[in-house]
Amino acid sequence: WLPDRVTIWEVGARDGLQNEQVALGVEAKIEFLDRLAAAGLTVLEATSFVSPKWVPQLADAEELLAGLARRPGVRYPVLVPNERGLDRALAAGCTEIAIFGSATETFARRNLNSTVDGQFELFEPVVRRALDAGVEVRAYLSMCFGDPWEGVVDVEQVVRVSRRLLDLGCFQLSLGDTIGVATAGQVERLLGALGEAGVGTEALAVHFHDTYGQALTNTLAALRCGVSTVDSSAGGLGGCPYAESATGNLATEDLVWLLDGLGVEHGVDLDALVSTSTWLAERLGRPSPSRVVRALSK
Ligand code: HMG
Ligand code: MG
Repeated sequence: WLPDRVTIWEVGARDGLQNEQVALGVEAKIEFLDRLAAAGLTVLEATSFVSPKWVPQLADAEELLAGLARRPGVRYPVLVPNERGLDRALAAGCTEIAIFGSATETFARRNLNSTVDGQFELFEPVVRRALDAGVEVRAYLSMCFGDPWEGVVDVEQVVRVSRRLLDLGCFQLSLGDTIGVATAGQVERLLGALGEAGVGTEALAVHFHDTYGQALTNTLAALRCGVSTVDSSAGGLGGCPYAESATGNLATEDLVWLLDGLGVEHGVDLDALVSTSTWLAERLGRPSPSRVVRALSK
């Protein structure tokens, strides 16, 4: 089984740029988002309303959204960890946000200065107030497969936290392999366990980092299990500043190449996307790690 169409949730401007050492000016970020939209991507995670002390790379979130000409038909979700972040996102005119939880205690502490239970105290008022304001809420769950401090993560734990995040009222849950260690069998096992717990694939997305080169294989496994929303970042940018050993996300170009070969629709112009990623790589001063970008930009 394969879906007819996949929604690509492009996270380059957020997951990608949150981790870059070279500070990219706000003008270049806006141009990046605009070029991604022109290439046909319709969901662009734009930035995060997190503490600027924690993620200085995205401290320009207000300026970015004020300068961005939002295109019709394109969604621009933003990350929000707490009520302070929600206030900022609402003031910036956002209509879609994402909260981000952890399946493990160590990462909840390192990424949110909280605990697995404590993070729900942060999220509950955020989701309630967002829904009241007509804002849609996605949830991420990090460390669904392996954690650099705790090792392999228990499937039952992931299922429990997943249920709690969806029960808050989130329309979708994105399962994160934050450090890119998962393999296809684990993906199938987790999706199977979630299904048994009443969480169907229509409420799920996958978010693979590519540290061990497994992101594309894991994506195919998830598609075959019924998932039809896939997170990726243009050129394979990305990582998490609070998870050692996390590298870039699945590259959007690699995903598009796979989907084209499978005959699955996605709506993206691959040439326009590759030229966007090579343009950005020049600005960041390092080549894209994506094999497809390298092959097509020779
Ligand atoms: P804290 O230090 O416990 O919170 O951080 P606090 O309430 O004590 O606040 C500390 C300071 O930050 C205060 O300022 C607050 O006002 C300010 P001060 O009084 O010291 O001047 N502050 C804020 N400022 C602006 N916007 C806000 C905000 N909140 C507090 N929203 C907190 C707790 C949650 C804020 C912090 O831990 C944080 O910002 N964490 C975000 C970390 C992050 O962005 N990580 C990367 C994204 S997650 C990811 O990449 C994984 C994902 O891709 C999926 C996957 O791969 O698995 C999604
Ligand atoms: Mg990520």
